Amino acid sequence: MKRAFYVTTPIYYISGNPHIGHAYTTVVADVLARTARTSGPAYFLTGTDEHGQKVANAAAAAGTTPQEWCDELVPRWQKLFATYHVRYDDFIRTTEPRHESVVQRVFERLRENGDVYLGKYEGWYCVNDETFWLEAKLVDAKCPTCGREVQWISEDDWFFRLSNYRDRLLQYYREHPEWVRPKSVYNEMMALLEEGLEDFSISRTNFDWGIPIPGGGGVIYVWFDALLNYISAIGWSSDPERFAAYWPASVQLIGKEIARFHTLIWPAVLWALGEQAPELVFAHGWITVDGQKMGKSLGNAVDPFALAERFGADSLRYFLLREAPFGSDFSYSEAKIAQRHNSDLGNDLGNLVRRSLSMLLKYRDGVVPPGDAVASEVGAAVAALPQRVRTLILSLDFRSALEAVWELVVALNRRIDDQKPWVLHREERDTELDALLYDLCEGIRWLAMLLHPVMPERTAEMWRQLGATALIDADWDAALQWGGLPSGTRVTLGDALFPRIELDAAGS
Ligand code: MSP
Repeated sequence: MKRAFYVTTPIYYISGNPHIGHAYTTVVADVLARTARTSGPAYFLTGTDEHGQKVANAAAAAGTTPQEWCDELVPRWQKLFATYHVRYDDFIRTTEPRHESVVQRVFERLRENGDVYLGKYEGWYCVNDETFWLEAKLVDAKCPTCGREVQWISEDDWFFRLSNYRDRLLQYYREHPEWVRPKSVYNEMMALLEEGLEDFSISRTNFDWGIPIPGGGGVIYVWFDALLNYISAIGWSSDPERFAAYWPASVQLIGKEIARFHTLIWPAVLWALGEQAPELVFAHGWITVDGQKMGKSLGNAVDPFALAERFGADSLRYFLLREAPFGSDFSYSEAKIAQRHNSDLGNDLGNLVRRSLSMLLKYRDGVVPPGDAVASEVGAAVAALPQRVRTLILSLDFRSALEAVWELVVALNRRIDDQKPWVLHREERDTELDALLYDLCEGIRWLAMLLHPVMPERTAEMWRQLGATALIDADWDAALQWGGLPSGTRVTLGDALFPRIELDAAGS
């Protein structure tokens, strides 16, 4: 079996309603999986992180049990992803038996081989981040990540022998300088490694909303439980063939605040199990409001459903990938979304489609004429574009990938302006007009396919207007040969693809 491109998102805490930050990582993973599928198999996993004190507290505050709370909230996440046209292959919930049994098996395995041992834990704990902190790391005696109060915990706990893996981690980091990206996060983690690593507690006894420790003695720490979703979902220890087809993951996407768990603890746990570290962990930046991370806790979260209604989910997907280099923080503003929507999508892309199809309807009754694929300059110029776009996307440079696609958008618009089809028509230069109209339609076909991973729904509408009958998500290498659109195809003009949004109304 060809090894699939395996991409994961963090699994989301369901302590409240989802916001646009949650949609962000999942949309990016979707774009990666859809792009990888244009040349081979891919597998995309997302899901929800349902145990731990944070979720238990949220349930208690709502006067319900944690399980009922989770069952009620999970559909909101699934609705969020559906609204944003995300097509995952699997959605894992950490309360599912298929996950719980793996976590218990891992615990037992590591206890047997000595990587997990019983010790005493005393220290500071932040419930919001479900994280233990050394006193020296606290800021004004509060959590250095979220600024909340921390609580003192003292209990007999099971520990994971992380300190044993420090040397191997150091060596791995040195030999694989690209395995954690961006570089800023790699450097930060390297600095932590150089400071030294302490064993960490992986059990809790002061509350019971978690996976029971085999043989009793409390529940398993939520982070230890959560990380294992990436392998429980693909059949670790239950389906070795399936597991081998996916693991190690090609890309694990995370927000930068959870890099420590994914790039220090996670590889060590995998090694303790005799498995490989993921190929790449990419820690992206935050969507910020007034310089602060958007989130429920700061009360600055933006409702992703309202946003999708207002701008269109595909315009938002485009915005999230195009606006900032992936990895950096970027500040959220409705004016910027409207600007991208109106300018790149409405004026450049939408108008290209509209102008081209209207001319085809006017001059050729809406039927694609024969072109001259061999002589086409645009055709020759874009021959290497699919490969270039795919490489840029799979190396997570979404911005450059979209800029590359826009070269085709610009080239086609320029051809209309330069060749003036209305003049060709008036002067009855039919062969030239046919060649131009063909190239425009073929160009639109290419754009629909190349942009499909980023805007699955709007490009499907482009496809429909174009009258294309082949599959829009077909293998690019086979389908993207200039001349692939059959002459005789009948187009139809639909509503504007990206109707203008007034800046004032969008809160500029
Ligand atoms: N449950 C843990 C992850 C466990 S993974 C084994 C968790 N959950 S979370 O819901 O708090 O956050 C999950 C992810 O949501 C972040 O890592 C990040 O990818 C995304 N984001 C949450 N807020 C965000 C922004 N304001 N901006 C960008 N991404 C954001 O941590």
